[in-house]
Parts: sequence; structure tokens; C-alpha cells
Amino acid sequence: MVAPFADAYSFAAGPARLPDAVLERARDELFRRGRDGASAVERPFADDAFRATLARARARLAGLLALPADYRILFLAGGAMQHFSLLPMNLLGPSRGAAYADSGYWSRRAIDEGHKRATVRVVARPPAGAPAAPDARGWDIPADAAYCHVTPNETADGVAWPALPDTGAVPLVADCTSCFLAAPLDVARFGLVYAGAQKNVGVAGVSIVIVREDLLERAPLDLPAPFSYAAQAAQDSCVNTPPTPAIHVAALVLDWIAESGGLAAMAAANAAKAARLYDFIDASGGFYAAPVRRDCRSNVNVRFHLADGFDEARFLAEAERHGLFHLRGHPRVGGLRASLYNAMPTAGVDALLGFMAEFMSRNG
Ligand SMILES: Cc1ncc(COP(=O)(O)O)c(C=O)c1O
Repeated sequence: MVAPFADAYSFAAGPARLPDAVLERARDELFRRGRDGASAVERPFADDAFRATLARARARLAGLLALPADYRILFLAGGAMQHFSLLPMNLLGPSRGAAYADSGYWSRRAIDEGHKRATVRVVARPPAGAPAAPDARGWDIPADAAYCHVTPNETADGVAWPALPDTGAVPLVADCTSCFLAAPLDVARFGLVYAGAQKNVGVAGVSIVIVREDLLERAPLDLPAPFSYAAQAAQDSCVNTPPTPAIHVAALVLDWIAESGGLAAMAAANAAKAARLYDFIDASGGFYAAPVRRDCRSNVNVRFHLADGFDEARFLAEAERHGLFHLRGHPRVGGLRASLYNAMPTAGVDALLGFMAEFMSRNG
């Protein structure tokens, strides 16, 4: 059992809650020694048992995404931000130019890192007014751009893109960190997709890169091997010691998603959970407000705030007394945020709604 505190919920944007069944399996599997005198966290990465776990995770992920045959899956050490730098290092080739869309906090950080290595053209920005994704049409992408980078779900801003651009021959690259595996993804639209694991694929320490094979040829030969997508693809993500515990947990999460109905089932559940929260906020007569434009509201990072004059610190402190944690918005954005990734059960949303209704009735 995952009790005690079974009725407490973390709404953190990441590292985030794991599915209960995964938490239990991880507790059993990660630290129990086997015949070889090693548990999963103690076993060398060259061992057959770890290689089987890695192969299982890769096969599960390929199956969930119905991955086309010309894409490779990498499980690499580190978080999503590493790829803000590894991307230009691997993909720029001789052109040096890259296009980026600015859609909020995390895309701006990707742009800042991009500037260190590439000639960056920002080809889209959010519209004026309520927080929203850029219009996906009419981008002026230089024909020689090595790639065009988007962030389909802005974790801090609570903004999800309703539509992605058609970038023609320029490979579309997406930081899918907070929306990865929360819904089906048509990988064939992208040259490369990457995500940190600690939201929907397990625990911190591993990031996932899915890259079209032809793009691997662009990596410069003098790139340090651990940072080279091509070298990592050639050596099954094992150029150097991979984050074995995090990959083990990722394999458990991928099993759980497959056994729970796959990505369509995740999307339906996430949409239903988010709709209940947004509907409640919209019906609160202004006591609560969700600032993001309706067609761009994220199903996984629900951003909201209290009516002017209400003390959010008090809301957060009282929420904690009701077992509801990590509801503070991103520090650069402010307000409140409930992250409802795949592992957040309906009971967690029920508990949050119950508290929000009660807080409103006492203060409204
Ligand atoms: C969309 C997005 N990109 C990048 C990052 C950075 O991830 P990491 O801390 O794993 O490097 C985050 C973290 O929340 C994120 O949400």
C-alpha cells in the first residue's frame, strides 16, 4: 500500500506524482536484491537484466506512439533543459540558423540557450491580451533554418497549443516535457521530440529524445560522445552509464499506461479532470479565475488565481491542512496552478474541488 497519507495529493508541476501501482512496484523492484546480489539500482548497465528493461521501455513507448520505423528513441541522462543546448549542438549542421516560437516561460529559456550556439530567428510570439499560444499560421521561417522549435504545452503559463504550424521542409522540434504521453502524439509531424521524465514518465534523471534517423547524420564528429544523439543512438543510449533507476521507473510507467488503455485513455481522463476544474472556476462568479484564453487552456497544468484582494498564501496554507500540496504557481508567473498529469486520480481533483468550494463559501 502507498498509505500513509493516501488522501494527500501533490499537484506539483514536476517532479510529479507517480501512479500508485508504479510507486508500489518501484518500491519492490528497485531495492530488492536478485540472484546476482544486485538490486535494480545496484546492477551494472551492461547486465542483461538492465538491457531487457531498457528494451522493454523502448518497445512500450514505440507501441504507445505507433512510432514510424524511421525514428529512434533515446533515454538520456539529465533533464529537458539539457536539450536546449544539445539540440543546436546536434542539429545545426553548417547552417547555424534556427527558428524558435516564443509561447511562454519555457520556450523563452530554450531561446536564451539557443542564442548561445545558433543564429536564432523568433518566428512567432504570443498574441496580446489573455495568455495564449501564438497563431500557428503565417510564420516566416528562413528556408535554411536547421529546425523550428516549439513548446506545445507551456508548463509555467498553463498554455497549450490548439494547433501546431506546418514548417514545410524545416524539421519541427518540440519540447513536449509537460504534455508527453498525456495524449496521443503524431510523431511523424516532427523531426525531433524531447521530454524530461519527471512529469508523466517517471522520476527525475532521464530525458527521452525521439529523433528521425536522417537528422542523426548532422551531428558534428567532434561532439563529445555522451552529448551526441548519433553516438547515443548507435550505442543504445549507453555511451556512458545511463540513469538506470530512472529508466527502470520509466519502464514501469510505460507498462502502466499501456495496461490502462494507452494514450487515448490518458487524454480522455486528463480532459475530463481538467474540464471539471475549469468549469468550477468559470462558475465561481469571479471568486476564482483561469486567465488563459479558453482555446489554449492546458489540460495538465491548470493555472488559476483568486479574485483581487484575496490572500493566496492563506489559500495555500489552508489547502495544505486539507492534504492538498504544491498548488503555488510558477514563481515567474505567479498565482496558483494544479498540475493534473496522468497519475492524478479523479479523487485528487474531487478533493481539490471540495476544498475550493468550501474556501469560497467561507470567504466569498
Ligand atoms: C516545458 C518544459 N521544458 C523544460 C523544462 C526543464 O526541465 P528540466 O528541469 O528537467 O531540465 C521544464 C520543467 O518544468 C518544462 O516544463
